[in-house]
Amino acid sequence: MKDKLHELGARAREEMAEAGSPEELDEIRIRFLGKKGELTRILRGMGGLSAEERPRVGKMANEIRAAIEKELTAKSAILKKLIKEQMLHNEKIDVTLPGTVVWRGGRHPLNIVLEEIENIFLGLGYTIAEGPEIETDYYNFEALNLPKDHPARDMQDTFFISNEILLRTQTSPVQVRTMEKTAPKLPVKIIAPGKVYRRDDDATHSPMFNQVEGLAVDQRITFSDLKGTLAYFAREMFGKKTKTRFRPSYFPFTEPSAEVDVSCVICGGTGCRVCSHTGWLEILGAGMVHPRVLEVSGYNSEDVTGFAFGMGIERITMLKYGIDDMRLLFENDLRFLQQF
Ligand code: PHE
Repeated sequence: MKDKLHELGARAREEMAEAGSPEELDEIRIRFLGKKGELTRILRGMGGLSAEERPRVGKMANEIRAAIEKELTAKSAILKKLIKEQMLHNEKIDVTLPGTVVWRGGRHPLNIVLEEIENIFLGLGYTIAEGPEIETDYYNFEALNLPKDHPARDMQDTFFISNEILLRTQTSPVQVRTMEKTAPKLPVKIIAPGKVYRRDDDATHSPMFNQVEGLAVDQRITFSDLKGTLAYFAREMFGKKTKTRFRPSYFPFTEPSAEVDVSCVICGGTGCRVCSHTGWLEILGAGMVHPRVLEVSGYNSEDVTGFAFGMGIERITMLKYGIDDMRLLFENDLRFLQQF
């Protein structure tokens, strides 16, 4: 019987040493020490022992039970600690890892550029004026010296709503609307940003785009005022080294008229792909306000003169950021917009 008890103790120790989980230990406890366990089964044979043997074997059984229990508790503590350590290791979070950044949105490149343009002219004492996008034929064309049969209307392929109502093709009607409201007071110094519409659609034209109009009317305003203003604007907008070039052109509502180029913002004027190897980029149309436009707007063209200019914001944005397809500005692809 003693041998059996020793053997049981040795086997229990072996199994406990190999146990890998608290569940296994529980199972060992039940199998060896439980009511129907091996120890109980051995002790059932106590009846066959002599009176002096019985207490000795009983004592030995108790010692073995105590030893197994002690070992079970110790092993269980070790296992639990191990499991906890493993869990801590597996579930470790690196608090220094960058989190998932939620993009809070940003300004659209067109708005960034528009704000820059506005700030430059606000600094020169201009104020901001607005006009309707649904415009009359009168303000969009006729008051701007473009009568109904004028061939220059062909340059601005127009969305007509009716014979007299259209989507404005340019911000120039705001010139007339502003002067009508201000006359006969002087000076008039406004810029007028806003959407305009033309029936064009390709990589460099969109049926909807944005312009900024500029208008300065006062006594003795000259073409040199226009040149100085636009040269200053170009330097502020594209950098101190930017040069400007005025080419003779034609607009019905300015006389004389010019198209204005800046030295290429990419190559600085030496010639590259962006400027088609000319060194120059066209950025706007301008000129001295035509006397007839002054007259229909309420000013005496004998007393006052003025200059006007108009530029496309998309074009300037594309030049400034090296964007080669205008449609990117309208598709609202976050991968594009997040770069500004
Ligand atoms: N409105 C003209 C255009 O859209 C630009 C312009 C504005 C030219 C003012 C001269 C003066 O092409």
